[in-house]
Amino acid sequence: MKLTSNLISGIVILFFVFVSADDSNDWWKSSILYEIFIRSFKDSDGDGTGDLNGITTKLDHFVHLGIDSIYLTPFYKSPMDDMGYDVSNYTEVDPMFGNMNDFERLVHEVENRGMKIVIDLVINHCSDNHEWFKKSVNKIKPYDEYFIWKDAKGFDKNGEPIPPNNWISVFGGSAWEWNANRKQFYLHQFGRQQPDFKLRNTNVKNEMKKILEFWFVKGVHGFRIDAPKHFYEDEHFRDEPFLNTKKHKTGGFTYNDFNHIYTTDLWETYEFINELRLFTDQLQKTRGGIERIFVAEAYTDMNNTMAYYGTKHFKVTHYPFNFGLVSLENPVTANEIDSKIMKWITNMPKGETPNWNLENHDHRRMNSKTSKEHATIILMNVMMLPGVVYLYYGQEIGMMNGLVRFDQIQDHLGGSEKKKFITRDYERSPMQWDDTMNAGFTSNLEAYLPIDPTYWKLNVERQKAEHNSFYTMFKNLTRLRQTNTCKYGELKTQIVSKWMYIISRTLPGYPTYYVITNFGPEYETIDLLDYIVDDTSVLTVETSSANSGYIYKHKFKIDNPFPNLFVMKPFSGVVLSTIK
Ligand SMILES: *[C@@H]1O[C@H](CO)[C@@H](O)[C@H](O)[C@H]1NC(C)=O
Ligand SMILES: *[C@@H]1O[C@H](CO)[C@@H](O)[C@H](O)[C@H]1NC(C)=O
Ligand SMILES: *[C@@H]1O[C@H](CO)[C@@H](O)[C@H](O)[C@H]1NC(C)=O
Repeated sequence: MKLTSNLISGIVILFFVFVSADDSNDWWKSSILYEIFIRSFKDSDGDGTGDLNGITTKLDHFVHLGIDSIYLTPFYKSPMDDMGYDVSNYTEVDPMFGNMNDFERLVHEVENRGMKIVIDLVINHCSDNHEWFKKSVNKIKPYDEYFIWKDAKGFDKNGEPIPPNNWISVFGGSAWEWNANRKQFYLHQFGRQQPDFKLRNTNVKNEMKKILEFWFVKGVHGFRIDAPKHFYEDEHFRDEPFLNTKKHKTGGFTYNDFNHIYTTDLWETYEFINELRLFTDQLQKTRGGIERIFVAEAYTDMNNTMAYYGTKHFKVTHYPFNFGLVSLENPVTANEIDSKIMKWITNMPKGETPNWNLENHDHRRMNSKTSKEHATIILMNVMMLPGVVYLYYGQEIGMMNGLVRFDQIQDHLGGSEKKKFITRDYERSPMQWDDTMNAGFTSNLEAYLPIDPTYWKLNVERQKAEHNSFYTMFKNLTRLRQTNTCKYGELKTQIVSKWMYIISRTLPGYPTYYVITNFGPEYETIDLLDYIVDDTSVLTVETSSANSGYIYKHKFKIDNPFPNLFVMKPFSGVVLSTIK
């Protein structure tokens, strides 16, 4: 056993979340936003694929857990070249997921439970199957100008057209695709089946507003804006500079070999979102109802990310997703987790709402990247932070990456043959509801993606019944998040040692909460008196990781001035309160 000396000084950073009056328009500020990757959540019609009705049948799962809002990945009509991120009709439900009646019923049932629903807005590009694109190819007005068309730079000696410039698509290869019909190239920042919209065209902007209005009227409470940093490109179509000069001579470029100054993060992105925001705010004024939110998927540098918060006079989104914690890998240290938390909080404009993501449909599961123990205590810490917690389906039971054989792969990252082995299917394996066939996900013999073999013991039903399961810990944490202290309280973090980390949340007149975590592989002992920030004679266990040995509602007496030794087992965490 190692005694961590109480001489190690903790780093103390103060952060104030402003206490605001209880306003229903603030519903999103301390919400848990739960991502449902629809295909993998719950199949209602036995075809092996998750659907909208499946979600409706499972809404009480969220009520039981204390989750107040859900975000749905795309369910619009699509040929599914990029799992629905290639839309061929924005106001139609793809038959794979159901129909419009199913969607309306889902919204209705969500509202009945006092929950909120956020949907995806994929407007950087659509599918090449969209009517608008087909009309554009045939130069039918006004669709001829809906996409970004460019003449060939010239023709090589075999008569092949040469792309207008060196831009590379995110999924690999030139961002330009030749259309033999129109005899021009069109731009696609993602797959070649995903032509980019010309978002400088007022007609296109108006189409996007119509889409917003359509779903607004259907009753959704928010929009997640997909890939906004790719919305605009340089008007002069200049070549992008190489980052990898060695390759300059040899060719074989990938997306990361270039500095994307002409195809990402153009200022017009923020102006366009601002325009959409003002449009939506206006709808809200005329139609009433609670505040609809905009959330941006922002994989970009800190300054460009923070710009999505906008300002009082230039509203952009309510918040951009914070992906800082997604990259956590072993070994996780107190310093590393603290610097990732503080990086967001110190860069965020004053008075805005932070948010925390650990997993999503584009990243490997935390459980598999670190360990089951780590994923538990990392989530425990995140749940006690101020702001929005974003949760990926299955995270509430600690799901692992699925096992997917080569011949079972569904996601080929935009259909690029060469990249067949790069897939996001591991983190998309079907939800594990119970220990029946296919984990209760589908009644079909075969699910569209294989069920992870751990399902016989790692499933919702089983964990619901256990006092110290991941699920039960998570449920207890959602209850703590609903307290005024967690909603409005001050955050203070202390790095006790390389592995020991303490978060406290305080609000005058309310109980204080402490999250004490040992990220390390050995027993650690601290003197609690050195780290508690208020005068209290008792600390009560509110929840704990199963391996901590600390029992729910166990009380510790704090005896001033004697040392109050507190032992933390390896990779364990506990939440204490000052409730007597
Ligand atoms: C999309 O689908 C709806 C409903 O089927 C239809 O009315 C509309 O014309 C379609 N839009 C386009 C652009 O094809
Ligand atoms: C971010 O913005 C700050 C303040 O405007 C500036 O000092 C800094 O250089 C910027 N960083 C980058 C990477 O652009
Ligand atoms: C969660 O709270 C329940 C009481 O609601 C308790 O029985 C259970 O032991 C707690 N479990 C954990 C892991 O906190």
